[in-house]
Amino acid sequence: MAKVCNMLQNNVILLIFFITQSYTLDPIWHEGQQCHMKDGTEAICRKEIECPWLEQNVTKNKTFNYIRDVKRCSFMGDDAIICCPQILGSRGEVDPNQRRKSQIACEEFSLYGDRLVNHISGGQAADIGEFPHAVALGYPTTPMEYKCGASLISGKFLLTAAHCCEKHLLPRVARIGAVALTDINDGSTPQMIQIKTCTVHPDFKPKTKSNDIAVIELQRPVNIEPNAYPACLYSNSTDPSSTTILSAEGWGATSFDGTPSIGLMKVNLTIFDFQECNKTLKVHESARRPLQLSEKTQFCALGVLKGESFGDTCPGDSGGPLQLQVNNRLHLFGITSYGITCGSKVPAVYTKVSSYLDWIESIVWP
Ligand SMILES: *[C@@H]1O[C@H](CO)[C@@H](O)[C@H](O)[C@H]1NC(C)=O
Ligand SMILES: *[C@@H]1O[C@H](CO)[C@@H](O)[C@H](O)[C@H]1NC(C)=O
Ligand SMILES: *[C@@H]1O[C@H](CO)[C@@H](O)[C@H](O)[C@H]1NC(C)=O
Ligand SMILES: *[C@@H]1O[C@H](CO)[C@@H](O)[C@H](O)[C@H]1NC(C)=O
Ligand SMILES: *[C@@H]1O[C@H](CO)[C@@H](O)[C@H](O)[C@H]1NC(C)=O
Repeated sequence: MAKVCNMLQNNVILLIFFITQSYTLDPIWHEGQQCHMKDGTEAICRKEIECPWLEQNVTKNKTFNYIRDVKRCSFMGDDAIICCPQILGSRGEVDPNQRRKSQIACEEFSLYGDRLVNHISGGQAADIGEFPHAVALGYPTTPMEYKCGASLISGKFLLTAAHCCEKHLLPRVARIGAVALTDINDGSTPQMIQIKTCTVHPDFKPKTKSNDIAVIELQRPVNIEPNAYPACLYSNSTDPSSTTILSAEGWGATSFDGTPSIGLMKVNLTIFDFQECNKTLKVHESARRPLQLSEKTQFCALGVLKGESFGDTCPGDSGGPLQLQVNNRLHLFGITSYGITCGSKVPAVYTKVSSYLDWIESIVWP
């Protein structure tokens, strides 16, 4: 279903990504060293992401031109180091220490943010670009199978469930920017990017699925475009209320033992009372699958009854996103972890992303 998107006429953030791959410049100045801006102003070399001046100009200044106005110092790994002037005495001054790295990154990725206001959603199949951070993970089986989902959270990193990165079957490729799992002429431009590493949380317990979270690094940065666009991380210390509508997406089975759906599916869920969930799941506990829930790092959610089944996530949706809208941006709150059945009134369990921000940031925005 083709959809017309209102792209903003601001390509600056796109440029940052393209330049990261192709720009070389000498001489080299390192982070913390003094440098001179193109207009001669004295400044300090800082990471792009830690430069409020860049962030303000990129997001607010329509005449700002990255190539013309930014002086590059050097690179540190994948991070561009730029010559960053102080912003003195300006209103709305940004103190980078007061906000998390993930929040700063979220604001930098504001290019397509307000598109969401006009989105038309209908039915259960997601439209192209409706959830531009939703990624399908392909595994090296023959033929290749998409067994898990993931979320794009920066130009080069994804978040998924730890159990989607089992040593004996690691995902090999990320399919980004499409709702269909095969290349069909639906107006999308899928990007297939090889996976470099999958870092599983050090405290992941496969049996109980405690700390079911992993960070995937891609071999190369994604081409950021309206259909392939990172989500913000939910960083509010207060969890969404039990009436907040969260939406989950996945390519997984549409029924418990079904085959994967061909398109990305979406479902509305709400958070299920934790103690009640613990009680409900206890009934289904087995020696092979001991139940150990933590309210700090996990939550349960369930959809509304529709016909004979409840809205739910299903096998194959694992690792996929569960998010809510905050200020017109999608904020990732959960990662689909596990369920007992699918479509019944038993809630499924999700990893609470906001409990892992320090760990995620240490890898994605070191
Ligand atoms: C960048 O932003 C700062 C503060 O918002 C402003 O003072 C400055 O003129 C801008 N510079 C450029 C080159 O856009
Ligand atoms: C916007 O960018 C232009 C070009 O870099 C600069 O001259 C101007 O001062 C900037 N305006 C603001 C309000 O920062
Ligand atoms: C955090 O969430 C609470 C409850 O939903 C809300 O009242 C508050 O404004 C939020 N804070 C921020 C910084 O978004
Ligand atoms: C999901 O919730 C949103 C409101 O957050 C609503 O607009 C939409 O119609 C719901 N979708 C379904 C399929 O119920
Ligand atoms: C879950 O319920 C069991 C008893 O059914 C209880 O022992 C356990 O402490 C509960 N877990 C949490 C995290 O509340």
